[in-house]
Amino acid sequence: MLVQAARAARERAHAPYSRFKVGAALETADGLVITGCNVENATYGLTICAERVAVVKAISEGHQRFTRIAIVADTTDPTPPCGACRQILWEFGGDIEVILANLSETTARHRLAELLPSPFDGRFL
Ligand code: THU
Repeated sequence: MLVQAARAARERAHAPYSRFKVGAALETADGLVITGCNVENATYGLTICAERVAVVKAISEGHQRFTRIAIVADTTDPTPPCGACRQILWEFGGDIEVILANLSETTARHRLAELLPSPFDGRFL
C-alpha cells in the first residue's frame, strides 16, 4: 500500500543535519508507485524534499500523470508538504489526493487544491 511504500522510502532518507526523515510515495495514473526520500546536503540549501525527489524520479522515468501521494514522517501531528513541494506537485499532478501518515497510522487526507489555493500554473502563460 502507498503509505507502506512511503515508510520504507523514509528509511533511506539522507538527513544527518536535521535528523528529520521523510518518505514519499507517488502513485501514477497507471498504478505504479514511485518513491522518494529527503536528501540533505552539508550546504543545507541544496536539500531536496522527499516529495520532489519522487516527482523528479517519476518524470525522468516517463510518468506524467499522478493520482495520489503519501507522505510519512515520525511525528504525532501530520507533516504537510512544504510550499515548494505543493507547487511542484501541482505542476505535474493537478488536484491529487495527499495522504499524510506517521510510522503507525494515517493522520490526514487532503486534496492538493485545498493545500494550494489559487495556484499559479501553465494556464497563465
Ligand atoms: N522535508 C521533506 O522532505 N518534506 C516535507 O514535506 C517537509 C520537510 C525535509 C526537508 C529537510 O530534509 C527536513 O525535512 C527538515 O526540514
